[in-house]
Amino acid sequence: MFSTILTGLLALSSSATARSVDIRSLAARSITPPEGCPIPTWTVDNFRWFNGSHSLDCIHNDVDRNTKGCLCEQGWCNPNTCNSTLVNVCYTGMPNYQPWGYGPPQTLAIDFQDGLKCADTYIGYRIHDIGHGESNCGYADRSLGRIVSFYGSSNEATSTGHIDYVLGSGHALECANGSKITYSGSTDFTLNCVHDASFNATCTAAPFEVPVLSYSWVN
Ligand SMILES: *[C@@H]1O[C@H](CO)[C@@H](O)[C@H](O)[C@H]1NC(C)=O
Ligand SMILES: *[C@@H]1O[C@H](CO)[C@@H](O)[C@H](O)[C@H]1NC(C)=O
Ligand SMILES: *[C@@H]1O[C@H](CO)[C@@H](O)[C@H](O)[C@H]1NC(C)=O
Ligand SMILES: *[C@@H]1O[C@H](CO)[C@@H](O)[C@H](O)[C@H]1NC(C)=O
Repeated sequence: MFSTILTGLLALSSSATARSVDIRSLAARSITPPEGCPIPTWTVDNFRWFNGSHSLDCIHNDVDRNTKGCLCEQGWCNPNTCNSTLVNVCYTGMPNYQPWGYGPPQTLAIDFQDGLKCADTYIGYRIHDIGHGESNCGYADRSLGRIVSFYGSSNEATSTGHIDYVLGSGHALECANGSKITYSGSTDFTLNCVHDASFNATCTAAPFEVPVLSYSWVN
């Protein structure tokens, strides 16, 4: 008899007992939802991450955290010939996040087939830490509890990225009997990064599905 211990939120298809299913394919497939409940399909059809070799990084880079820049009328000027005050390039609320001497800011786009677009441009302390967790799928959306997190490294030509998807109670779906249900899922995927001569990284992934792995009821 096949049996699996899952968290209280997880549902296990009863038909899984009838066939022999290996753990790998079980992990890669969406659960069967409770009777009468719809289940979403989350397919990432465009993934693009730019991480420049000299993108400002106020979270992981000590040098950047301690660097001062020269704010001038147009934005950032050469700090070596600065006529105004030097400010920390990592202060929030700066005119742009490409201080003098820095390359373009880091950007992330995770687009889903159903129209959801999660996008970040690195803007110092105020933003999500790209590649280390939550991304920005829109603040309105966020208040409904949806969180798409991305984990990965842009330093290798090929590596394994990871996505966690929490639908949130604000996006709950309605079952035939009127009960409301919401879902979560996650997956690893192959991340391909191309580096130019300056080691700027542009990372992409072939379309992939984020399987739905658990559900919870919403009151
Ligand atoms: C609706 O159906 C689900 C599973 O099929 C069940 O868990 C839930 O309690 C039902 N809700 C109501 C209001 O009967
Ligand atoms: C690549 O990196 C260099 C050095 O940081 C930068 O000047 C250049 O603008 C970057 N190129 C692109 C396409 O981002
Ligand atoms: C600073 O002032 C000098 C002299 O007025 C001027 O030549 C120079 O361009 C200024 N530098 C900046 C970065 O504004
Ligand atoms: C982003 O690029 C920088 C510079 O190449 C690198 O040090 C850093 O590890 C990269 N970030 C991630 C999350 O891979």
